Amino acid sequence: MTVYLNGQFLPKQEARISPDDRAFLFADGAYEVVRAYRGHLFRAKEHWDRFDYSLKALRIPPPASADFSAIASELLKRNTLADAEATVYLQVSRGAAPRKHAFPADMTPTVYAFAAPFTNPVEKWASGVKVITLPDQRWARCDIKSVSLLPNVLANQQAQEAGAHEAVLVRDGYAMEGSLSNFAAVLDGVVHTAPRTNYILPGISRLVALGLCSALGIPVKEFPVAEADLKCATEAMLFGTTNEVMPVVQINDRKLGDGQPGPLTRKLQQAFRNYVEECQRRG
Ligand code: PDD
Repeated sequence: MTVYLNGQFLPKQEARISPDDRAFLFADGAYEVVRAYRGHLFRAKEHWDRFDYSLKALRIPPPASADFSAIASELLKRNTLADAEATVYLQVSRGAAPRKHAFPADMTPTVYAFAAPFTNPVEKWASGVKVITLPDQRWARCDIKSVSLLPNVLANQQAQEAGAHEAVLVRDGYAMEGSLSNFAAVLDGVVHTAPRTNYILPGISRLVALGLCSALGIPVKEFPVAEADLKCATEAMLFGTTNEVMPVVQINDRKLGDGQPGPLTRKLQQAFRNYVEECQRRG
């Protein structure tokens, strides 16, 4: 496997990162995950804009001369994934320096990226998935795509152990988003999803899905569903780079409707797939 590290493409086993790297010591960095559909980087500009936003928020200077689209495309090529389903992971940390909390002077950011093959979750897309609700134990800057992901990791692990696909995180009584996806529920025929605030990651898939809702005439309310109202939801879904539009058919012990993906979710899921295919065709 060929990875990218600080301006070089090299075999993964030759990649060396300092134990003083602040991503290792403090989780002091940001990241992006981009879907590559047969070489097409899905909504790359939005991902790089969000990367820029995260780095600015963390006060990490954007790495000089790192062209993320070029790095991602080269990684796909070098790993024979240019014509395959894949994801590209990119991470920038503040860099390496002896451990102290405040930013050390004259840091050079560490830039690391890799591409990995991806298998579309076609069976789960067809059947829908179970989610569980858990308290949102993250900080108040969930809008930053920081590598500091322990609450997400713990929540996701708890979901896996409960036989669920995702954990939906509840803050102050409201379902905000998943551990690695955005969440929406349908109440009275309206798609409800948490608004863009500091309490959710502004997902690119969420953005695309809401655009499709508007094109399809599906009503949307950007307001989170109270946990207590989840029992009234007729449908629910997750949005994300690795989920696209994933139907949710069970929340905790309660099946939604007849336990099958709902009609509105299906419509949106198909529209998302069509959009992906159109993007691929356009190149
Ligand atoms: N996660 N919310 C959270 C907390 C996320 O980590 C993600 C993405 C999303 C969906 O965002 P997008 O549609 O831009 O992928 C929402 C990535 C895939 C990850 O951490 O692996």
